[in-house]
Amino acid sequence: MKAIDVGSSGLLASEISLGCMRIAELEQREANLLINTALEVGIDFFDHADVYGGGKSEEVFAEAFSGSSFTREKIYLQSKCGIRQGMFDFSRDHIISAVDGTLKRLKTGYLDVLLLHRPDTLMEPEEIADAFSRLHQSGKVHHFGVSNMNPGQIKLLRKFVEQKIVANQLQLSLTNTGMIDSGINVNMEIDRSIDRDGGILEYCRLHDITIQPWSPFQYGFFAGVFLDNDKFPELNRVIDALAEEKGVTNTAVAIAWLLRHPAKMQPIIGTTNATRVRDIAQASAVEMTRKEWYELYLAAGNTLP
Ligand SMILES: NC(=O)c1ccc[n+]([C@@H]2O[C@H](COP(=O)([O-])OP(=O)(O)OC[C@H]3O[C@@H](n4cnc5c(N)ncnc54)[C@H](OP(=O)(O)O)[C@@H]3O)[C@@H](O)[C@H]2O)c1
Repeated sequence: MKAIDVGSSGLLASEISLGCMRIAELEQREANLLINTALEVGIDFFDHADVYGGGKSEEVFAEAFSGSSFTREKIYLQSKCGIRQGMFDFSRDHIISAVDGTLKRLKTGYLDVLLLHRPDTLMEPEEIADAFSRLHQSGKVHHFGVSNMNPGQIKLLRKFVEQKIVANQLQLSLTNTGMIDSGINVNMEIDRSIDRDGGILEYCRLHDITIQPWSPFQYGFFAGVFLDNDKFPELNRVIDALAEEKGVTNTAVAIAWLLRHPAKMQPIIGTTNATRVRDIAQASAVEMTRKEWYELYLAAGNTLP
């Protein structure tokens, strides 16, 4: 498994991360197998949020990790905060208490990365800056980032926050390519030229912010998985042909497509199936040519001007 320097911060982690959003649904022994398999194949970066399973995902992870042969220093734990029942909350008090809750559930003294989960339009960047500084000085959080934010929102934060913004977690998959489409179709009078994110792809590249694609196998907003799905015959035909040629699974091809982008992304996979984790990890060793990358992009139903 290749490593990635998250946000050029010196945090060298596996380029594929395991997202733990769905693990609250597992029996503990299934979660143990999942986490141990991830560690075995070289995945050392785990994505959490205080809201996943209402906090249970973090607890299930902690229990699974305590039975592994790895020590805390060998892995990276990222969690998110800011989503509350019926509102978003980036207030200083909420950020600080959310981190304390996460640390308790994860049974750890520190988070490697804390992300602000979804933009809170009532955010006061001075308060966020204060919360981040307190968390950093106390050693509770080593690095900071955001999720689902556009360039303007990150600029606003950067005006006040002392620490580097190392990551931005965004929805991106072969079937959710808005941030790529708008750059390919600049100034065209077609829907794909619509810039829905303010040029977030280029902004993150310019500022060494690692894009972490979430839901890399889903189409729509949690509408289902595009792999082996009759709704995407051409895409699956091309994915399957490449998978056969490269001797990997279709899941590995879908992730290799994200890893091939020079923005140096860190996909967050959400499977709860240990065999799938093992298969997906092979993506790190896949060499994908420019031609293959565009072939997949077009097979997903996109066009080039
Ligand atoms: N920042 C945000 O706003 C945000 C939003 C959503 C998610 N996330 C993060 O992103 C992570 C991934 O999200 P996700 O779980 O929606 O992503 P995903 O990896 O695209 O989807 C995984 C889901 O698809 C199912 N699946 C069915 N067939 C599959 C196949 N052939 N290959 C792979 N998966 C298959 C999995 O089931 P099995 O478990 O049975 O394999 C699982 O339920 C989350 O865990 C979370 O950490 C962040």
